[in-house]
Formats: sequence, C-alpha cells, structure tokens
Amino acid sequence: NADDGYRLWLKYDLIKDAGLRTAYASQAGFIQVTGRSGILASAAGELQAGLQGLLGKPVPVVSSGSKTGGIVLTVSQAVALPNAEGYQLTQQGGNVVISAKTEAGVLYGAFALLRHLQTRQPLRNLPQSSSPKVRYRMLNHWDNVNGTIERGYAGGTLWKWYELPETVDPRYRDYARANASLGINGSVLNNVNASARFMTAEYLQKVAAIANVFRAYGIRVYLSVYFPAPKVVGGLKTSDPLDPQVKAWWTDKVAEIYKLIPDFGGFLVKANSEGEPGPQDYGRTHADGANMLAEALGDHDGIVLWRSFVYKADPKGDRFKAAYEEFKPLDGQFHKKVIVQVKNGPIDFQVREPFSPLFGAMDRTPLAMEFQITQEYLGFATHSVFEAPLFKECLDSDTWQKGKGSTVAKVIDGSVGNYTLSAMAGVANTGSDRNWTGNPMGQANWYAFGRLTWDHTLASETLAREWVNMTLTTEPKAAQAITDMMLRSREIYVDYTNPLGLHHIMGYGIHYGPEPWLDRAPRPDWRHTYYHRADSIGVGFDRTASGSNALSQYKPEVQAQWNNPESCPLPYLLWFHHVAWTKKLPTGRTLWDEICTRYYTGADAVGWMQQQWAQAKPAIDPELYADVAGRLATQHREAIWWRDACVLYFQTFAKRPIPAPFRQPD
Ligand code: GCU
Repeated sequence: NADDGYRLWLKYDLIKDAGLRTAYASQAGFIQVTGRSGILASAAGELQAGLQGLLGKPVPVVSSGSKTGGIVLTVSQAVALPNAEGYQLTQQGGNVVISAKTEAGVLYGAFALLRHLQTRQPLRNLPQSSSPKVRYRMLNHWDNVNGTIERGYAGGTLWKWYELPETVDPRYRDYARANASLGINGSVLNNVNASARFMTAEYLQKVAAIANVFRAYGIRVYLSVYFPAPKVVGGLKTSDPLDPQVKAWWTDKVAEIYKLIPDFGGFLVKANSEGEPGPQDYGRTHADGANMLAEALGDHDGIVLWRSFVYKADPKGDRFKAAYEEFKPLDGQFHKKVIVQVKNGPIDFQVREPFSPLFGAMDRTPLAMEFQITQEYLGFATHSVFEAPLFKECLDSDTWQKGKGSTVAKVIDGSVGNYTLSAMAGVANTGSDRNWTGNPMGQANWYAFGRLTWDHTLASETLAREWVNMTLTTEPKAAQAITDMMLRSREIYVDYTNPLGLHHIMGYGIHYGPEPWLDRAPRPDWRHTYYHRADSIGVGFDRTASGSNALSQYKPEVQAQWNNPESCPLPYLLWFHHVAWTKKLPTGRTLWDEICTRYYTGADAVGWMQQQWAQAKPAIDPELYADVAGRLATQHREAIWWRDACVLYFQTFAKRPIPAPFRQPD
C-alpha cells in the first residue's frame, strides 16, 4: 500500500471509524445533479469518486428525484452569496444541498464538502458558506519550451509541448482537480522570462488543448509575454507599444487567441527587468506597454498582469527602492484591465522580507500579490519549510495605505481601494516528479497558498492541520507532532540561514547554501557584501535617513515601527539598520552573541524537527516517511553548513569568540 504522493490531498482513503462512516453514508445515498455540462459534471464526478473512497461504497449520480439522504447540487441565482464563485452547504429536506450562483461555485462547494469529511468533521456543523475574497487566484509556472522549469525543483515541466496538441496527458486533469479543490482559477503556463514562441499559431494550439482540459475545472489559462514578440515572431521592425502596426499586431493576436481559447485569461508580463526587453527600450513607460496590451484585449474578458519586479545595477543605489521608484510615478496611469503584480517583498522572495512599500503607495492601481511557492531561497525541495506563516506575515502587515487596518491582504483583495480586479499569484512548486513537488512536504505549500487565495484570513495552523489530515494522517498525536513541526519550520530556517533580518547571502546564481562572502559579480547588487555590509563595527543595511532612506517609501506609521534600532522588531533589524556587534539587544545578548545563538539553536532545531517526524512514523505510509526523513537528515547537515559558514565568516569582522554554550571543546 505504498503511497507515491500522486494523489496529493485528494486522497479519499476509506474512513476507518465505522460509526463515522455510517453517519456520513446516511447523508450520501446519491448525488443529484440536473445539468451534465462540464463543470457540474466535474463536481458530481469528484463527489462520486471521493465518497466511494471515503465510504467504501458506490454512490449513484441521479438527475432528479424526491428522495432524502443524498447530496443535491444546484445552481441558482437566488442563493444569497456575495459573489459568483461562492458556495453554500446546507441541510434541507433531508438532503445536503450544495448551492451556488455558478457551476464553478458548486464545484468549490463539492470540494469543501469532501474536505469536511476528509478532516472528519460532523455534518451537523453545516450550514457553511464561503466566497472567495480575491477574484484571480493563480499559479504562475516558470516553465520553458525545452521542458525545464526556472527555479523548479520537482523535475521538468508538466506541459508536454512536443506532444501537444494531439496527445493530452491525463495528468493535466489531475493538476486541474488539485487546483480547483483549493479555489485556484487561473494558470500562467509559461515562464515570465518568456519565449516569443508562445505567440505562434503552433504553440497557441498546444495551449488551447490544455485549456480544454482545465475548463471543466473552472481554470483559465494565461500566457507570459515576450514583449518584443511583434518583432521576433511577427516580422515587424519594432515592438514599440505606441506604434500603430504593433498595436494592430497585438489586436490580431488577441483575436486569434480568443478564437482558439474563448475563456483565455490574459497576459503576464516581465518587462525591462533583469535584461528582459520592454517598452523602455523605445523610450516608453511600463504604463504605455501595459495599456497597449490591455487595449488589444478589447472587449474580451482578459486582463494584463504587469510585474513590478525591476531593479537597476547601481552600486550606490538601494535595490530595495527600485520598484517603488519606477512604479509609484505611474500610479493612476494604468488602463482599467491592468493589475500591477508585486512580489511580497522589495528584494526577491527572501526568507523574510518586510512587505513591499508599493502595497502602501499605489492608491489608484489594483495590485496583485506575487508569492513564491517554489523554494528558490528556502532550500529547494530538500529543506522542509512550511510557507503559510511567511505568506500570512506579509498579508497581515498593515500598510496604512488608507489609515489603520489597510493590511496587505485588504489592499490586494480590493477592499482598501474598492477594486473588483483583485489577484493573488504563486510561483508554482510543481513539476513532473511523481509526487508533484519533490519533497512531499512541499505539497503543503501549494495547498496553503491555494487556500489563502480563496480566504486570506485562514490561520497557518488551520491550513497545516487540514493538509496533514487530508494527506498524511488523521491520527491525532501524529498529526499534532507534524503540525507543530510545520508551524515552526520557517522560523527555524530563518535562524540557521538569515537571522535577525540578514538577507541575500545565499549561494550565487544557484541560490542554495551559504555564500555571504560573495563580493564579485557582474552587477554590484548581485554581490552579497552589498546586502549585509559587515565591517569591523557591525552588520546590516542602514535604510533609515542616515542610509538609503528606503524607509521613506512607507507610510509614517510603518516607518515608526522600523526606523528606530532600539525598538525595531528583531526579525527586521538588519533589514533596516547597521548595528554594532557589541550592541545589547532586548534579549540581553549582544548582536554578535545573538547572531551566533540563532545560527546554533536554528541548526539544532532541525534535530527537533527530525524527532517530531519520527514520532509520527507509525501513523504514516512507510515510503513517504522515509522520503521526508531522508530530506530532514540532509537538511540537518546543511543547516550546520549554513551555521558554520556564516558564523565563521561574520566572525572575521566581529573578531569575537563564539559564545560559551556553543563553543566546541578544544
Ligand atoms: C528571481 C529569480 C529569477 C526570476 C526572477 C523573476 O530573480 O532568481 O530566476 O526570473 O526572480 O521573478 O523574474
């Protein structure tokens, strides 16, 4: 009964508790559904397969009837729900009724009901209703034409470009099921460092074949755009967004796309960033580029997600400030179909970043959140880091954009600015590995991200527990041990890699392991000494008025939290201050001693994670257990590598001994 991880959290193994099974079964005698079209058929099919597994008996799908003791799916405009994709689960007339305004809503309700049973909740806990807080809930795949994935650690791409469109891998459907079960409704299929090839008729056919599969699960496809596509594949002399021929080319391209893919979602664009071309090559702005594409979309129901991830190679500048400097002046200039997609932090998916100042500053532009699920800076698929606490820390931060309570979550869900365009994207950690994410624990990050796109108020603990129950075990002690491990894992990772606000000191290029000593690179802001600024006095990047003054990009109330080294919370200290090694911190230790303490206790805590995992062994599939146990052993060894590399390197500046509790005997 080996578990290869393929089924993710959609496991539906038989419920062992016979009493509970009977109780559920008495409410699951049949599935009644009137329509048999795409999405409704998916909803009924999911319920049928799920219930068959959980209850161990077949459940018929019927189209009408006046019986009781079953599950009824209904689409009705009369349901009192705030939006089209929400659902309601109620008990009515002896049946469990899943109702929604749209078929997609019913599908989300079906998955919610299954989750209810998978986490063993009593049916008397109904009614339940839920509606997504964010409209565009998406995965971004950084997948290339040649089958590789940029920053992917779970094999190659899921999309078999060479076989498409004739051969359609059944896995596309399983991918769509998994996403729909979380509420995700969009996938950008290709890398933001995009190939122009995706705009050719040949590739659009392939994309359409994937879209045909996703449609039945309420998922729309999007494409990343190579901005000079008109020149590269269109044969034009320019890709200037203000050139009439370029505009016409895009308008025609959009028409061609919607003919093939009537529910195409739109474009994601990385432009004038890290060497990618863009409108600035023609003296135009990001807004000119984005608006041209938005106009080309015309009346089609598509959007442009324009990324704000930009920075210039300026040794005297502060990369932290770059996105704000380029985008803030454009606030108010974007077309109504444009969303500016902002990474959670100002630099680049570090283990911890303060929220991007753009979230507090773009009063007149809808902003999308871009999180990274794939663990580029979080130990790839080797280290176990549960990311929900990282996502939540950012979402719950108060930007003060329109006064107190303007949290990042409320900025991106549109409630602060009163926008209906709202989006949350996650750079996917999926790949062709049999278990999708390489590290089985990585599935939890996909899960947590997806659930948060639907409801950003969910707690990390709820997400961890749900995932563990649905994926690994419902045995309470084991589930608790794993949940505890997951909830601490991110802070542990921070401690043994980048404590106290250190950032960007990882291995050059590959972004794995420690390399704080890097002081040579093609660009000044790719040197790690640029970020930590260690010297004989202390360490950290002064971003107050005496330094780069990046803090001035935040609202005054936010500045006040961070601009005083005496009161700045320790997790952010070295993000904003150059602090003396000898400085006494609120912990009672000097900065140097505190840094050492974090590195040592962090690395030790991986040993604690191993123990937690070992406790759960009897309750977990043996192969899956061994897989994670192996990765944790590597993680422990590499945590010690990080610790020793960083402590010894910073010691060359601090010139102080490692504090006594951690000193090795001679
Ligand atoms: C990071 C990452 C790149 C990626 C870039 C982006 O810098 O290392 O591989 O292309 O982010 O988000 O565009």
